[in-house]
Order: sequence, then C-alpha cells, then structure tokens
Amino acid sequence: MTRPAILVARPIFPEVLALLREHFEVDHHNGENALPPAELVARLQGKVGALTTGSERIDAALLAACPDLKIVANMAVGYNNFDVPAMTARGVLATNTPDVLTDTTADFGFALLMATARRVTESEHFLRAGLWTQWRYDMFAGAEVHGSTLGILGMGRIGQGIAKRGAHGFGMKVIYHNRSRLSPALEAECKATYVSKAELLAQADHLVLVLPYSPESHHAMGAAEIGQMKPTATLINIARGGIVDDAALAVALRERRIAAAGLDVYEGEPKVHPDLLTVPNVVLTPHIASATVKTRLAMARLAADNLIGYLTQGKALTPINGS
Ligand code: DGY
Repeated sequence: MTRPAILVARPIFPEVLALLREHFEVDHHNGENALPPAELVARLQGKVGALTTGSERIDAALLAACPDLKIVANMAVGYNNFDVPAMTARGVLATNTPDVLTDTTADFGFALLMATARRVTESEHFLRAGLWTQWRYDMFAGAEVHGSTLGILGMGRIGQGIAKRGAHGFGMKVIYHNRSRLSPALEAECKATYVSKAELLAQADHLVLVLPYSPESHHAMGAAEIGQMKPTATLINIARGGIVDDAALAVALRERRIAAAGLDVYEGEPKVHPDLLTVPNVVLTPHIASATVKTRLAMARLAADNLIGYLTQGKALTPINGS
C-alpha cells in the first residue's frame, strides 16, 4: 500500500524526521532559506500534509494550486501565516503548537525585559569595544525592574506567564489590557488588574506585547500609542512583527521619547528596519523566544503528532479549525 506523502518545509530535528518517515513518504526541504511561494506550491503537489513554520504562507492561492492537501501543521503557536477561513473553506485542517512553549516564551519575555531595562547588551558592546576606562555613577544606569509597573498587552497563556513572573518574582504591580477580561480567579493568580489600553500605555514602566497578529492588531503600537507611553518606559515585543510600527519606534527611540525597547520579532522579518540597527537603546534578538532545545523539540514533536494523528486516525491533537 502506498503511504501518504507529506512535505516537511524546513530543517527539523532528525528524530522527528525519522518518526514521520515511519508513517509517510517524506519530502524534506532541508535548505537554509524558506521555499519561495512558487517552489512551495511545486513541492506540495501530491502531498496530503505539510509541516510548516511561520515562514510559509498558506493562503487561498496556494490552496487552490494544491488540491491534495488535507492538513498543514504549523510548528508555532502563532499562525498568522495561515489564511484559516480559506483553509476551512477548502477542508484543510490547520494545527499549531500551543502550551508546550508557554513557560519558555514567558521566560524569554522576562529576559528581554531585564536586558532592555538594565541595558545589558548596550553595556556589553561598550565593554567589548574597549571603552570602559573607569567607574561612573551614571554609567549605563537603567530603569528599575522590581517594584515597577508591568503592563501586558494581550493576556493569553504567555501573557499570564509573564504576569506571574513579574508579580511573584519581582514584586511588580501588574496591569493588563486584552480583548476579553480574565476570570477573577485568573486575575488573582496573576495578581493582574484589568485597565483600558490608554491607562496601560500611560502607566506601564515596562510594556510587554503578547497579542496575536491580525489585521486588527496591525500597528497596535504606532507613533500615537508609543507617544502615550512614559518617556522612561521600555517596550518589549515578543508577539509578532507588524504589531509595532518599527519605523515609528526607531524615531521614538532615537528621540528618547521612550527609554528603550527589546524586540524579538519584526515587520518583514528576517529583515530588520535599518533605523533600528543604528539606535543604541534597543535590544534585538532573532525571533528566539521559544528557542530552548527542549521546547523546540516539543514543538516539532507536537506538529509531527498532529500530522500522524490526523492522517492515520482522523484526529489531530491541537486543531485550529476542526478536529
Ligand atoms: C510561535 O510559536 O508562534 C513562535 O513565535 C515561533 O514562531
């Protein structure tokens, strides 16, 4: 009997590839760069499943050109690379990898917040450049973290993880804004107070973005919103590129309208707005919030299990648009 054919669109752990090969005929794109759209379509011909990352766009045009496709398993909790209504209309199951990365990503949100507030990378560049000649009272004096006000925009699982770290670990006052308010029990667990977006922007000493990207959240932090933040505040984006207007942020950082920013995601990544590369008061990392070996393996394994479950037994573990 011929086995179902799938495409693994990116390099992946060898043990996960081996597991998939026990069940499927696997076409593996092991190249450094994501497949351009036309090549992705060509490689998907005759494939019933695909394992993707945020780099592969699954939209109506691709779906129309790949009629055999039944499931696309994203190795990411975010799935703004999927046109979910188009997938549903074509009967293609979409899956993602929630939960397995929550704590790891919340840890990184905090790492980026700390590095940004305490000017860790900026001071390291100074030291490496041989510029450290003496101690000074104001040398790389940054913003206080403990006891300050932590603002969180988007209060899903990762946002809640960041709230708990801030409230319980650093004695921070936690305020948040979200489309829907948490239950009183969850608010108590996170020690978090719901506020309007305007209050959040005005009161946060450190503002962490953890909301999903959608047309509604595009430039949720533009020049006007950044302008409502305290001049001493820091802005952290571990959500998705496009939520922050990166060009406007670079201007605000250069003009010190806010103190600093920490970014793990960018509009049009892996390209980074050139102005962000030249301002000193920003910490830049290449979309690594979920990148520990254990968590990335768990994400890859969950994406593989979604393909195996759905294509061999008709049931995926973490579906977005079906069962
Ligand atoms: C996610 O899981 O959404 C991370 O951002 C990796 O893409």
